[in-house]
Amino acid sequence: MALSKFAFAALLALASVQAAPTQGKTPEIIWDGRIPYPMTLTAFDSYNTSRYGAEFVLGAGQKFSEILRFPDVMRSIFDLPTNSKPVEVTINDKSIFAPGGNPQKGFRRSELIPITNNGTDATVQGVTTFHFSMRPDMARPLNMSHQYELVFIETNDFSSHVWTIKAGTPFGSSVHPSPEAKYLRLESSTAGGKAGQTLFQVPWLTSTWHNFAITTDWVNNKLTAYHSCGYKPLQKVVNTITNNATGKGQAHIGVLKLPTDSTDAAKNGYQQSNLNEGVIYGGVFVEKGAATLH
Ligand SMILES: *[C@@H]1O[C@H](CO)[C@@H](O)[C@H](O)[C@H]1NC(C)=O
Ligand SMILES: *[C@@H]1O[C@H](CO)[C@@H](O)[C@H](O)[C@H]1NC(C)=O
Ligand SMILES: *[C@@H]1O[C@H](CO)[C@@H](O)[C@H](O)[C@H]1NC(C)=O
Ligand SMILES: *[C@@H]1O[C@H](CO)[C@@H](O)[C@H](O)[C@H]1NC(C)=O
Repeated sequence: MALSKFAFAALLALASVQAAPTQGKTPEIIWDGRIPYPMTLTAFDSYNTSRYGAEFVLGAGQKFSEILRFPDVMRSIFDLPTNSKPVEVTINDKSIFAPGGNPQKGFRRSELIPITNNGTDATVQGVTTFHFSMRPDMARPLNMSHQYELVFIETNDFSSHVWTIKAGTPFGSSVHPSPEAKYLRLESSTAGGKAGQTLFQVPWLTSTWHNFAITTDWVNNKLTAYHSCGYKPLQKVVNTITNNATGKGQAHIGVLKLPTDSTDAAKNGYQQSNLNEGVIYGGVFVEKGAATLH
């Protein structure tokens, strides 16, 4: 379908108006990943009962009911309206994903993917805002000498990320742990093999929730981000910037740990054994349009 230049410009103008943050609006939720209070861990093992895919991303032969936990922490600000509960994603020595039977021996990873999020669905069309809260588990600490990718949108062709929440030491760093290791960092698009730029960073290794709302304009390739700690209202931390979102894709919520001493992060490198690491997530949902501020 060919749009006239005028109609196209009008669409662009509309999209940028929608990308402006609106206060006090009731969110129109496209996909709700918040965990209902009665939900059991085994419910994550079936597409019939989970809000997330039941098979990906996990170590070969693992089940989500073995990897997830319901931690004893206060619910996040985004869970308060629905009385939903936090969930912890862990990794262990068997968290070796083997897509098509090819084990990714360099990584340890367990990530939840929204069940409807097939790479081109409504969560990656128009303007959408991805909400989530996260906090470390002080009893299952990450090893900050490694790079972690803890929430990200992987493009539909698997070649890059639209944005990434990272922690730990950047892969390939000669200093372990590196100065930025203790910060939770939001990085920009890696489309076309570009290195992600740090858009926002915050120290996070305490027992406190970090709440995010990340708005993507999938039409005009823009990103805006909001953050708060604990139960404080969200504040804008990244003003609307250009960020390549043409690859659309799937949201991953969980722990992807990169190796050290590696020539190819997915395939080889050092990972310590007897791993028992986790990150706690809460209040995950996708809103249509710009962020509704709390
Ligand atoms: C899921 O639901 C379908 C259709 O109701 C049923 O055939 C299938 O056995 C169910 N699968 C599981 C794992 O419960
Ligand atoms: C992805 O989901 C959308 C919305 O449900 C659907 O229109 C589309 O056909 C799906 N794509 C694939 C490849 O399954
Ligand atoms: C943390 O990672 C570094 C780098 O791989 C490694 O040298 C160190 O032994 C790890 N720490 C633990 C407690 O295993
Ligand atoms: C986004 O990145 C892709 C892959 O490199 C490139 O083909 C496309 O032109 C880029 N789009 C924009 C709007 O920068």
